Amino acid sequence: MNIILLGAPGSGKGTMAQKLTVELDIPQISTGDIFRKNLKEETPLGLQIKDILNGGGLVPDEITIEIVKNRLAEPDCSKGYILDGFPRSIAQAEALDSFQHVDCAINLDVDKQTIVSRLSGRRFCPDCNGTFHISTLGNATVCPVCGGKLIVRKDDSEETVLERLRVYESTTLPLIEYYRNQRKLVTVDGTGGVEVVYRRILDVLHK
Ligand code: AP5
Repeated sequence: MNIILLGAPGSGKGTMAQKLTVELDIPQISTGDIFRKNLKEETPLGLQIKDILNGGGLVPDEITIEIVKNRLAEPDCSKGYILDGFPRSIAQAEALDSFQHVDCAINLDVDKQTIVSRLSGRRFCPDCNGTFHISTLGNATVCPVCGGKLIVRKDDSEETVLERLRVYESTTLPLIEYYRNQRKLVTVDGTGGVEVVYRRILDVLHK
């Protein structure tokens, strides 16, 4: 099954994708993780996109589309995949339709107040891409999964979060209509605890 997870920054796409990838045994393709890895390793791409990522803007469509197209052509995607953070513009969605078949676009619906509270408490492990929240981590400063040092993502500063939300509303939100018109959109209430939201997604997929 080829699944897209849509939703605002902090709506829980990464958290849900990490659970689904285990349950469905198909890979999670997170463009954000791919870009952050390049940033960390200071590759030519990483250096090129550094200011965009840290400022909360979008990496140009041509670059992003090429990366995803190549990644989806790898053998582990042949049984299906979960796209987390792609597409993010109509141009990306149209490109995806030209080289892949999408089965379902799940839109995680979360209010702004919840988003701000989730992002301001997020802790991220750059070693295993694990995502956590201070409400469940307590005082822990290392990753409960791999022992890596947890960090606050640079783009989780208040100013950058506001910019990411602005970009989401102007460029990514139209995708909801795009997939609704294709009859592939399912909107899931993304508020409530991780397990509650996850159960709602599984219910949708089982239907
Ligand atoms: P990306 O990493 O994709 O960022 P994003 O879309 O802004 O999404 P986030 O990772 O911030 O949030 P999320 O929805 O995954 O929520 P999470 O599960 O972490 O992209 C980063 C950047 O890369 C972009 O800004 C852009 O520059 C670039 N980029 C990426 N893709 C691109 C593309 N296609 N085109 C162009 N540029 C692109 O959860 C958030 C927090 O909430 C965590 O602390 C988590 O523990 C907690 N949480 C999650 N669910 C729950 C729940 N149900 N209850 C309580 N807490 C929860």
